[in-house]
This record gives sequence, structure tokens and C-alpha cells, in this order.
Amino acid sequence: MGRVIAIANQKGGVGKTTTSINLAACLAEAGKKVLLIDCDPQGNATSGLGIDKDHLENTIYELLVDECGIRQAMRAVDGAENLTVLPSNVNLAGAEVELLELDEKEYILRNAVDYIRDDYDYILIDCPPSLNILTVNAMTTADSVLVPIQCEYYALEGMSQLIHTIELVQERLNPDLTMDGVVFTMYDARTNLSADVVASVRENLNTKIYNTIIPRNIRLAEAPSHGLPIHLYDSRSSGAESYRNLAREVIERKDI
Ligand SMILES: Nc1ncnc2c1ncn2[C@@H]1O[C@H](COP(=O)(O)OP(=O)(O)O)[C@@H](O)[C@H]1O
Ligand SMILES: [Mg+2]
Repeated sequence: MGRVIAIANQKGGVGKTTTSINLAACLAEAGKKVLLIDCDPQGNATSGLGIDKDHLENTIYELLVDECGIRQAMRAVDGAENLTVLPSNVNLAGAEVELLELDEKEYILRNAVDYIRDDYDYILIDCPPSLNILTVNAMTTADSVLVPIQCEYYALEGMSQLIHTIELVQERLNPDLTMDGVVFTMYDARTNLSADVVASVRENLNTKIYNTIIPRNIRLAEAPSHGLPIHLYDSRSSGAESYRNLAREVIERKDI
């Protein structure tokens, strides 16, 4: 059965989407069958994989409001064998309110994903920058939550709320959910700040921390405007190497 990982942090700009796209792409490059679910109305994971998000007949929105089935909304990614996307666009912003009126509103995504879970080795969910009903749907669908932390001031801000939300979902909605761990992003080896942030998080957070640290790499920032994951945009960049290493760590993990 596929392992479902929600990539979440209610702070914006910490590297959720960059990690979702490139971890998914590197898992696929390693031969795994991967589905990336874009659960953010900004649709950055969708456009970052070269899909024209504003001209889609079916997206995660139509799926959640029961206007299409999950397979009808899924799209192959050009040039990336083994990688499929469930796309999103701004329509999803409206779903938040619409979902609140539905029965079992916390389980709508999970019920849809159950149809295709066995077809994939990994299903990654790129979460929106908030702790709303969409994030709750991602967490009820997921086996674990992976938290990207940007190597910046206030890296730990909001972390206790996020952990509290994960615990609430565990208690009330999805007892099987676990904390996958933390991955540091945008590490700048030239500054003390990045090293200080890593040290402080290691001291203060009692959770798995991936050995792979994602460096700040301009190629990672450029790739989405070309609609390409990093291994297709610049296969030998430090960004590509680091996401390959992260994929390897995820594959080799035995404890969850
Ligand atoms: N390792 C990195 N090196 C350089 N730029 C990065 C890196 N990771 C993310 N970025 C850039 O930082 C911005 C925010 O990243 P993004 O993944 O969109 O964050 P989030 O999804 O958490 O809002 C984007 O412009 C992205 O291209
Ligand atoms: Mg994002």
C-alpha cells in the first residue's frame, strides 16, 4: 500500500511546494510510482510541473465537491515517468467554505484517495499555508506529516500550533497519523544563522530530523518558472543532488 506523506507548515514560503515537487520527482526518478496531490489553492505545485492550472476541466476542487472522480482529475507529468499530479487552482479557495457544510467533511480527500492508494508507492500532499479544513483533509489522508523548516529567524514560530494540530488529528480523526519529521530548507552555508537555526531546532524539537539539508540554490527557485522539477531542469545542481538524497532517505526509512 502506498505511503501517504502530507508536507505541511502553516507558514508560507518555507519550501513546502519546492519540497513536494522535487521529493516527488526524485522518488519517481528512483523508480517509485508517485502521486503528488496539490492541496493549495495557489496551485504552485501544479504550475511548477508545467500544467496550465487555469485551463483545467477537473481539479482537486471538482473532486472534493463531488463533480468528478479522482482518476478524472489526475494528470501525467510531461517528461517525468512514474509521476502523476492531482492538480489545483484558485477554485479550491471556495471549497473551504463549501466543505464545512458536508457530512464527514474531514474525510473527503481520504475517501477519494482510498480508490487509488494501492496504485502508488508514494503519495505526497502539498498543503496550503494554513491549518484549515484542507490541511485537516490532508492529515486524515496521510500516514505521516513532513515539516519543512526554513533556516531563517523565527523558524520555530508556529511550530507548537502545528504539532498541536497533528496531535488533535491523531486523537480525534486519524489515530494512525505520525510525525514523519523535519527537513531543513534554504540552508545557507555562508551564514552562521542557518547553522544556528539547525542547532536550535535540534535542541528544541523532539522529532526525527532528516540528515539531508536542502541548500539555498537558485536553480531550485528558477525551475518552477520553466514548469520543470529540478532533476529535469538542472540534474547536476546542488538542489537536484539534495532532493535525490532526501528521496533516498525517505525510501530507506524503516521505522515508520
Ligand atoms: N532551497 C531553495 N533554494 C532557493 N530558493 C528556494 C528554495 N526552496 C524554496 N525556494 C523559493 O522560496 C520561495 C518559497 O518556496 P515554496 O516552496 O513556494 O514555499 P511554500 O510552499 O512553503 O510557500 C519560492 O520562490 C521558491 O522558489
Ligand atoms: Mg506552497
